[in-house]
Amino acid sequence: MRYESLGEVPLKRHVQVRQNGAGSPLLTEEVLGYEGFSGNETILYHVHSPCRLDAVGDFTPIVREEWVPDVHVHRLADANPVEAGGDPLSGRRLLMFNGDIEVSICKPTTELDGFYRNGEGDEVIYVHRGGGVLRTMFGRVPFREKDYLVIPRGTTHTWELPDDAEQFWVCFHTPGEIETPNRYRNRYGQLLEHSPFSQRDFHGPLELETFDDTGEFHVTVRVRDGFQRYVLDRHPFDVVGWDGYVFPYTFNADDFEPRAGRFHLPPPAHQTFQGPNFVICTFAPRMLDWDPEAVPLPYHHSNIQSEEVMFYADGDYAARKGVEIGCLTLHPSGLPHGPQPGTVEKALGAKATSELAVMWDTFRPLRLTTLWQAHDKPEYALSWNPDKSPAPASSNGASADSATVTGPSA
Ligand SMILES: [Fe+2]
Repeated sequence: MRYESLGEVPLKRHVQVRQNGAGSPLLTEEVLGYEGFSGNETILYHVHSPCRLDAVGDFTPIVREEWVPDVHVHRLADANPVEAGGDPLSGRRLLMFNGDIEVSICKPTTELDGFYRNGEGDEVIYVHRGGGVLRTMFGRVPFREKDYLVIPRGTTHTWELPDDAEQFWVCFHTPGEIETPNRYRNRYGQLLEHSPFSQRDFHGPLELETFDDTGEFHVTVRVRDGFQRYVLDRHPFDVVGWDGYVFPYTFNADDFEPRAGRFHLPPPAHQTFQGPNFVICTFAPRMLDWDPEAVPLPYHHSNIQSEEVMFYADGDYAARKGVEIGCLTLHPSGLPHGPQPGTVEKALGAKATSELAVMWDTFRPLRLTTLWQAHDKPEYALSWNPDKSPAPASSNGASADSATVTGPSA
């Protein structure tokens, strides 16, 4: 990411630091870092030892309800009817997973009772609806609609959610690291001029919250494919200062500066994050390919080595059969896919697209869960055959002389 600092940190690392000068207890310095001591790190100064426990609670293994479909086809699911409920942790309902990534839908209706820390993976939460404040040991991170909220492993946190806001999140977990793509960064790590975002578009913690409180504090830690519970007798937000490259942050999809070309650009032009064996892309509203002969929708393509999932976040998808805001498509490996019949002809000459979509491509097969099964739309598999599937409900502006095109561009 980049170097950030909040609160008070000493001039040198690994020296004696006391919160209130001579006579007060030493602060506890914690180095929180990736890849042993070779990756990015942050140094935090705690009032108490972060190891201090009052009691050890139970361990609950994660249970995944996998759905193994009988057939291999393109799939569509509607996440709108997924029931709201639970808190930002218990409310996550797993949709798909493999060894590199887990994707859940979460529509929390209550705040988290206690604190949570992912001890075995980074998380990204795409905020489709809602907002609030992620309260962390690094400080408060406000988040809003269309934010990607990136939470590094090791971040103890809880949530502040407004009473009246509907929350609808797409949650990603990965045992790897969430990073911006290597090709957007120079050899020092700074984002390059041609990157679709700059450091200014990333927003870290704004305000440190330091509590030197005694009480009963419940912390749930995801480790070893399960949840371990602990009870602390000191407040986990006891950090008086920190500095480094590891901290939670937001990036808003509206700050993604889209790229377009004279002819169609493939999805890597929209890449936002990278993880092990997967990417996350933002298809933002943008001008379309401007050559008079250009085809502004994607060419058919065969994902012979990847699975492609789109979450339709905003814009007009009238030309895509059955696709609405809040739906997902899965175009799995081994099958070609592309625009549906008639949509290319209608899109010719279009100047812009209003679509906003979040895409994740995985290079290893995805496994689905019973949640997908419950919201699966099997008719999507036949939607490229006009003899089997009705035409899109409306062209809605996607005609040769229209200004905008409707339909996904991946
Ligand atoms: Fe695609």
